[in-house]
Amino acid sequence: MQRLLVTGGAGFIGANFVRHVVEQTEAAVVVLDKLTYASSPEALEGLPPGRVELVTGDVTDESLVDTLVSRLTGPEDAVVHFAAESHNDNSLHDPSPFIQTNIVGTFVLLEAVRRHEVRLHHISTDEVYGDLELDAPERFTEATPYRPSSPYSSSKASADHLVRAWVRSFGVRATISNCSNNYGPWQHVEKFIPRQITNLLAGGRVKLYGSGENVRDWIHAEDHSSAVLAILDRGRIGETYLIGADGERSNLDVVRTLLTLLGHQADDFDHVTDRPGHDLRYAIDSGKLRDELGWRPAHRDLHEGLAATIDWYREHRLWWEPKKATVETAYAAKGQ
Ligand code: NAD
Ligand code: DAU
Repeated sequence: MQRLLVTGGAGFIGANFVRHVVEQTEAAVVVLDKLTYASSPEALEGLPPGRVELVTGDVTDESLVDTLVSRLTGPEDAVVHFAAESHNDNSLHDPSPFIQTNIVGTFVLLEAVRRHEVRLHHISTDEVYGDLELDAPERFTEATPYRPSSPYSSSKASADHLVRAWVRSFGVRATISNCSNNYGPWQHVEKFIPRQITNLLAGGRVKLYGSGENVRDWIHAEDHSSAVLAILDRGRIGETYLIGADGERSNLDVVRTLLTLLGHQADDFDHVTDRPGHDLRYAIDSGKLRDELGWRPAHRDLHEGLAATIDWYREHRLWWEPKKATVETAYAAKGQ
């Protein structure tokens, strides 16, 4: 039986991937997660016993990581590395955990998969490529030069470089994927879409950074998961695949859609202090993934996806309500 070690598997996308693996394959999964403030172990509840084991621990813990990786002895066994500090705004306040988890953590994993000759899939972000002009004709491709802007994106870029170096210098069997902005259930309320939905559900107001002209390329987390599984199954070792679902929208557009879906006037929002160094536009060309591996996104209608996400947050107040006050107090202190 195939065994997967999924780091960060109690996070927003990691837990979605674990569920996807349980539904789509016969694999057994060990999740290694530090259970930071960003985690949602609740998202793993109800999975069939025996298929998923949660180990609480740090990806920078060499001895623990070595033990877990040493158990991956089958030819199809692999590590899928989601664990990261993932929020740009937090990285501007305190970059230190980003350096530790995102760079040192990836180094520790790389050394373990090198020692035990285990396949690795490394999860990265389109933010390593910096940003594009609003009217630029091009989108990011696997050949776009790295130009990260924030402590978060530069830590992810550093990790990607380590993975490539370990492939070339040590023959580590690794692949990398760089995905665009995810949305869907279980996303922490510090992030853009859940923050606005829960602000409105809690009787508060929508908070838009700056003018709102910034563009993000939205993909449902389930489509990220199916793409990662396709790369794990059929991706070529040493290759990078960009993951995106042609979901470019300005933040202003998204805010107006959420407000309308929740029964408010489309322009009933607050402009708040912009994020320092705020990337203008991300856009993914996922042609390589589609052409080589035949992957296609299942969620193609963002309006429909946002409506379903609103319903999910309506039905999961007990999960997000306790997280809300801390997040909003921190934002308010920054004028956001
Ligand atoms: P998240 O913040 O929701 O979850 C991260 C998980 O990692 C949490 O469960 C946390 O407890 C765990 N973790 C953090 N530090 C750890 C450590 N030192 N050891 C072990 N576990 C640790 O993040 P997410 O949004 O699910 O992102 C997952 C991955 O996908 C990240 O690598 C991120 O860079 C990447 N990514 C995210 C997006 C997005 O839109 N959210 C897009 C592209 C790529
Ligand atoms: O592109 C992939 C990246 O997407 C991932 O690597 C990151 O882990 C993930 O957090 C996300 O980064 P962003 O910085 O794009 O996501 P965030 O949800 O923080 O913000 C999305 C956009 O919305 C961004 O332009 C900032 C803006 N924003 C954000 C918040 C929290 C607002 O206008 N208001 C807000 O309250």
